[in-house]
Amino acid sequence: MKGLVLAGGKGSRLRPLTATGAKQLVPVANKPVLFYALEQLVAADVTDIGIITGDTADQVMHAVGDGAAFGASITYLPQPAPLGLAHAIITAEHWLGDSSFCMFLGDNFLGGGVIPYARRFREQGCAAQILLRRVDDPSSLGVAVLDGDGRVLRLVEKPLDHISDLAVIGVYFFGPEIHQITPLLKPSARGELEITDAIQGLIDAGYHVRAETIVDDWIDTGKKDDMLEANRLILGSLQRRIEGAVDAESTLIGPVVIEDGASIVASTVRGPAIIGAGTTVRDAYIGPFTAIGPACELTGCEIEHSIVLEGSIIRHVERRIADSLIGREVVVERSPLRPQAIRLLLGDHSRVEVV
Ligand code: G1P
Repeated sequence: MKGLVLAGGKGSRLRPLTATGAKQLVPVANKPVLFYALEQLVAADVTDIGIITGDTADQVMHAVGDGAAFGASITYLPQPAPLGLAHAIITAEHWLGDSSFCMFLGDNFLGGGVIPYARRFREQGCAAQILLRRVDDPSSLGVAVLDGDGRVLRLVEKPLDHISDLAVIGVYFFGPEIHQITPLLKPSARGELEITDAIQGLIDAGYHVRAETIVDDWIDTGKKDDMLEANRLILGSLQRRIEGAVDAESTLIGPVVIEDGASIVASTVRGPAIIGAGTTVRDAYIGPFTAIGPACELTGCEIEHSIVLEGSIIRHVERRIADSLIGREVVVERSPLRPQAIRLLLGDHSRVEVV
């Protein structure tokens, strides 16, 4: 079985963070969300992996390389335009050949990995296997309707009316039969070839489509709060590791990772929290479920339940920062200048909440 990982698309819901960067490379617990997908495929013995790329191909190729670091062999498959998940399969058709494959959306995070699902797909020999999960609001997702015996009757992409609370998650298993269906698809209202329509096509053609309803944690990390939730989940199983310097005036509580070259001075870090390589934390409080990226500087501030990316500076901010996602090389600081005011330089689609 091959792997097909999708790392194209627009990432519009995470702007401005993704205005210039790939959404799949936004880090969760200081590791790009895409890397979890690659690691989980390799753990399930799927090592021949194609990555679909879009406008951000250079960044993805730079981050993942030839795959050797993951124990995988990576082939990059540029998608000419973001025309949908089923279009990604068409893009990869030649490379896939008649192999079965696991398609994994590079911005989806699946708590327990894919090993049992890959095993059952290999055993069952069906044309497709989808994973479903009950969600409170499925209106922005693909949704499945099952019959009394758990067979898939119908799949609908982003239904306007409530038809089921079973969302189709972004990890799919396909046999080569899918290539008979994709050429027949028509673009949806959003102009994409939908994966739900492709799977519906398999059902309509009489193929066996297996569905498993899972209870594992699953997060489509497309939005800020989803990123924070994935961060919370991963940090929840953090093991304490101290490689950087911690001075005698500092206190580390619970599962804390201080990466190499980081320095903690007169501060309290209450885990689970991770402080990236080369970052300085001084006279500060870092609270639970916080991931501070590498080469940051945090001085005289308090922050919790947040993600801060590489090279950012937070200095002398009196109020505690919480529930925040701060991008690369951002500066947040108290200014002595008068008039006393909040002065902002924000990218398009930024969001600031002040009290
Ligand atoms: C896509 C699929 C949808 C699926 C979702 C999972 O949605 O079209 O069926 O439920 O991924 O993340 P999109 O992210 O393109 O809106």
